[in-house]
Amino acid sequence: MGKVHLQDTDTKEKTTEFNLVRVKGTWKRRLENNVNLDTVDRVSAAKIYESITEKGTTWTVVSPITFTYKVTETQSLLDPSNDTLLLGHISDPQQLDDLKKSNKPIKRFLVVDQEVYKIYGPKLHVYLEANNVLFKILALPTTEENKSMEMVLKILEEVNSFSLDRRTEPIIAIGGGVCLDIVGLAASLYRRRTPYIRVPTTLLSYIDASVGAKTGVNFANCKNKLGAYIPPSAAFLDLSFIQTVPQRHISNGLAEMLKMALMKHRGLFELLEKHGRMLLATKFQTDSSVYGHNCSQAASQTTHIAITTMLEELAPNLWEDDLNRLVDFGHLISPPLEMEVLPSLLHGEAVNIDMSYMVYVSKERGLLTEEEKQRIISCMVGLKLPVWHEACTMELIHRSLQDRLKHSGGLVRMPLPVGIGQADIFNNTSCEVLHRAYQNWSDELSVSPDSNGDP
Ligand SMILES: NC(=O)c1ccc[n+]([C@@H]2O[C@H](COP(=O)([O-])OP(=O)(O)OC[C@H]3O[C@@H](n4cnc5c(N)ncnc54)[C@H](O)[C@@H]3O)[C@@H](O)[C@H]2O)c1
Repeated sequence: MGKVHLQDTDTKEKTTEFNLVRVKGTWKRRLENNVNLDTVDRVSAAKIYESITEKGTTWTVVSPITFTYKVTETQSLLDPSNDTLLLGHISDPQQLDDLKKSNKPIKRFLVVDQEVYKIYGPKLHVYLEANNVLFKILALPTTEENKSMEMVLKILEEVNSFSLDRRTEPIIAIGGGVCLDIVGLAASLYRRRTPYIRVPTTLLSYIDASVGAKTGVNFANCKNKLGAYIPPSAAFLDLSFIQTVPQRHISNGLAEMLKMALMKHRGLFELLEKHGRMLLATKFQTDSSVYGHNCSQAASQTTHIAITTMLEELAPNLWEDDLNRLVDFGHLISPPLEMEVLPSLLHGEAVNIDMSYMVYVSKERGLLTEEEKQRIISCMVGLKLPVWHEACTMELIHRSLQDRLKHSGGLVRMPLPVGIGQADIFNNTSCEVLHRAYQNWSDELSVSPDSNGDP
């Protein structure tokens, strides 16, 4: 409502709300009752509030920004007849039509994880050449140890010399979560925001790093300390990439899937309990002639549930303004743990150790029964995930929770499973409970031959 009002008679503050309208190419502010829709080209969703007090004038700008991005599952992404990689991010039918009709070659800059490039490089070249693309491929060792600003700058130098149209030529990242995070940050910095596309090639990046808006690199020995909340234009998912991922990295991805199962979806937990070992052995390439219908469905069912449950949590909170996030389960203690022992624990492994301890905290608080606790730990072991680690000491747990307190508005905000497939966020876990849970966790799991994830 456009209005002029006195907010506070004591301070004599007068605030006026203005709409913004475009008339013949010029934006102007207008009181709402002064907007004639017949004479303006456009009315913006943005508003300007002008407040005048004795101290001076303040203009408050409220400018809603909408992010739209697609997560598309496809098959044979690198088949030359599949144009998803080049055009799948475009939603406007007119733009798509114009592009298809134009004889100007498509131009793309691609950053590919070096290991992925060794396997899929030849296929990628064939794909791009068959589609007459002007391209540059930068193959980089995008490892966790290299997940740094130096790597971002290296990419930016190459992007700059390739010279991209920042509105129509998205940068394509192909690789695991590390590659996608680094390239996403580089793209969000280049010319303040260049569109980018994510092609995940590990299970973890397929169901997690591809789905949301976060980009980042490690800094000051802290995980993802520098980053941005800028989603890609699109993420293109092809499960066949996963077939060449080492098995340990499949387990790594299964940890993030298990997180969603424990927090939100009992059905997903049951699927992992039943088919997890098979999914691990087949690397999600389930052929119905070999494994039967139910098993072959498990790969697509589990990935679909993991993606949709993740999207449900992320879409309403893309910038993580709401600090009460179930997806933080497994991410309270794991960041310092992962950094402390780098490179010996993978991200998902560190997350699983954190989840395993938190399951004991839940049990200690009476939120899980002994049987549920055992079931969860057995499932983790079945997925060949570590459930205990000597570097995860009580001191590290305290330090992580203190850090969390500092960065989470003075509350620990601890997501914990309440039964299997349901959760809540707790701010009142006592030190006593944390200690007792730690004691039981260590007593029961440190001696287990399976605790490090070995079969
Ligand atoms: N942005 C987000 O929302 C988000 C979410 C979760 C995790 N992450 C980040 O993701 C990272 C972990 O990702 P990751 O587990 O994919 O690790 P990764 O990117 O290090 O990849 C794992 C390993 O697999 C290799 N690889 C990748 N694809 C392959 C393929 N198809 N065949 C053979 N080898 C392949 C890579 O070279 C690497 O050695 C962490 O840095 C984490 O912080 C980000």
